[in-house]
Parts: sequence; structure tokens; C-alpha cells
Amino acid sequence: MIETQVWRVDPEAVDLEQTPQIKAAAEKLVRGEIVAFPTETVYGLGGNAKLRDSVQKIYEAKGRPSDNPLIVHVANLEQVRALCTEIHPIAKKLIDTFWPGPLTLVLPSRGEVSNAVTAGLPTVAVRMPSHPVARALILASGLPIAAPSANSSGRPSPTRADHVFHDLDGKIAGILDGGETGVGVESTVVDCTTTPITILRPGGISKEKLIEAVGAVADDPGLTRLDQTPKAPGMKYKHYAPEAMMYLVPAGKDRIHELIASQENSGRTIGVLTTEENRDSYPEADAVLVCGKRSKPETVAHHLFDVLRSFDQKKVDVIYSETFSENGIGKAVMNRLSKAAGGRVVD
Ligand code: TXA
Ligand code: MG
Repeated sequence: MIETQVWRVDPEAVDLEQTPQIKAAAEKLVRGEIVAFPTETVYGLGGNAKLRDSVQKIYEAKGRPSDNPLIVHVANLEQVRALCTEIHPIAKKLIDTFWPGPLTLVLPSRGEVSNAVTAGLPTVAVRMPSHPVARALILASGLPIAAPSANSSGRPSPTRADHVFHDLDGKIAGILDGGETGVGVESTVVDCTTTPITILRPGGISKEKLIEAVGAVADDPGLTRLDQTPKAPGMKYKHYAPEAMMYLVPAGKDRIHELIASQENSGRTIGVLTTEENRDSYPEADAVLVCGKRSKPETVAHHLFDVLRSFDQKKVDVIYSETFSENGIGKAVMNRLSKAAGGRVVD
């Protein structure tokens, strides 16, 4: 066990880089310790990407399988150029259009970072976050920062510092608490080594937006087909799962009422994941958790991981979840929900 320090920091403070909190966290990184920090998507667990020992600490703290590579976080183009052998014109267009922001590019690696970061792959995943605290930490440390989401492996990603504290207290040197993250789901991961480029993980930047910027965009078939392995190693693992058995119910309200009724004599407690619009629709359930507004899909993404974590506190046995349109950010929401449900869908 190590002592986990928590530094509160105001993301809107001027000269963030010079604040004692950012300096203290950056110093830990320089010394090879690992610290959690907010990004615009979810909290990340950062370490020096060039130091094997530091990267190893990340895998250990999370209990993460060693074949699942990490994203390297940078603050400027110079740092990107140091990491990869080539930024071809399509990758450059993506950078110009979406960075800083919730998009991760898989690029041919120059071998600059520890092998543990890339899990031995010839490529490296790079992202330039827009969150001021993340940017200040990268600049203050002067390092490329390797950072997965700051949750224990398999749990929902953290969107607040207390989520990180719950999972990693005693295992990491510190947490920069910059309040709630914005987007709520992780970055979109795009493989730029294929033609056309391929979405390896849907996320904060929608496929529609990517197409608008660069034209052709493919989806990794491994994301939807059971007979193919996803190209992003992390996508093959069980993830985001609450403790309860969760089911997605595309037919919606009436079907969920039937399902709850069918559990009446089972002795199981029932939770429902819904939205503002249907907040009062399930009086017979033991716990009804509201995940944003269906009419505003970005609010559903924003609340999703917190709601999944809250079901554990409610101690329900079964969760029935409404489903969402896969337009825009809805694609990332449905990907995470489907993983949380272990693929269980009720007709
Ligand atoms: O929004 C985000 O992306 C957050 C914040 C902290 O930046 N990070 C995050 O990292 O979600 P993580 O480790 O939870 O997910 C990274 C995903 C995994 O599925 C991993 O397998 C994939 O990216 N990945 C990393 N490097 C890769 C590579 N070289 N080729 C293919 N997939 C890669
Ligand atoms: Mg993760």
C-alpha cells in the first residue's frame, strides 16, 4: 500500500502549469510514480511512457492484462513526431480537425516509448487531450504520458475523482481532482495505418464527423462479429460490468414492465436504467437510475459510467436497460452498454 494523495485543482485557474498541485503531480511522474488526472473524456492513470518501470506500475495498479496497450498523451505536434515514423495526410487532417480532443490515432511507432506501452505492437496510440488539467500536467512534466482509463480493469471508466479513489486508493501516488469529466465515454480510437482508416473503438468523436473530415472510414469487423478478434486488444475484454446481471431491452418500456413482472416471485431485486423522459415509468422496480435525457444523447454519454457504478451501491440483482439510437455518440453509448451487459439482449 502507498499513500494516495488527492490534489484538488480548478481547471479554469490561470497559469495552471505553475500551480503547486500540478507541480507536485508532475514531480511524481518524473520520479516514475503514477498519478490519475482528468481528461475531457474520463480520468486517466498516467505514467512516464518512456520508463518501463512506471508503465509496469500502471498495469499492476489496474490489474490490466499485459497484452492490452496504452494510449500515449501529448500536448503538441513535436511530441507526436517523436513517437511515430510517419503522419500521412489523412492522419494530419484528423489532427488538424479534432485535436486537441477525444480522438486517439494509431500510428506506426518509432519505438520511442517502452515496449510495455505498445504491448509489443509495431504501432503506437497517441492522443492530444483538450482538458486544461491534462495539458498542464503533460507540459509541466515534459513527458509523453502513457495513460489508460483510471479504473480497475473490467470496471466502468471513472468520470469523477471519487470513482478513481474507490478503485485505486493505496495503489497509486496521487489523484488530480479537477471535477467531473465532460464527454463521459472514452476517445474514439482510429487506426491510421489502414486505407481507409478504421474505427477500432467508437467514442467521443462520431463516425459521421470522421467521414465529414476525411471521407471513407471503415469499422473494425471484430467489434461486431464473433468470429473475428478486435484489432484494439482492449475491445476483446469483458468491461464496464456492474455487479448485477444486466440485460438490454430494445423493445423498451412495455417489455421492461413484463420482465419485471416475470421476476415477481424470484426474490431478486430489480434495477432499471432509463432517462429523464421515463423517470416515473417504473414504480414497481427497486431502483430506477436516470441516465441523462434521451433527446440529448451527449447527456446520456456524460452520465453513463456514473450510473453503471451507482447500481452497485443499490445492490440490485438484475438490471434492465433501455437502449439508444446508434447515431453520433449513441454508437459509443451502445458499445459500452452492450459490454456492460456482457452482450445479453432480451427480445
Ligand atoms: O479517452 C480515452 O481514450 C481515455 C483517456 C484517459 O485518454 N483512455 C482510455 O484508455 O480509454 P484505455 O487504455 O482504457 O483504452 C485504450 C484502448 C484499448 O482498447 C487498447 O487496446 C487500444 O486503445 N490501443 C492502445 N494502443 C493500441 C494500438 N497500438 N493498436 C490498437 N489498439 C490500441
Ligand atoms: Mg479503459
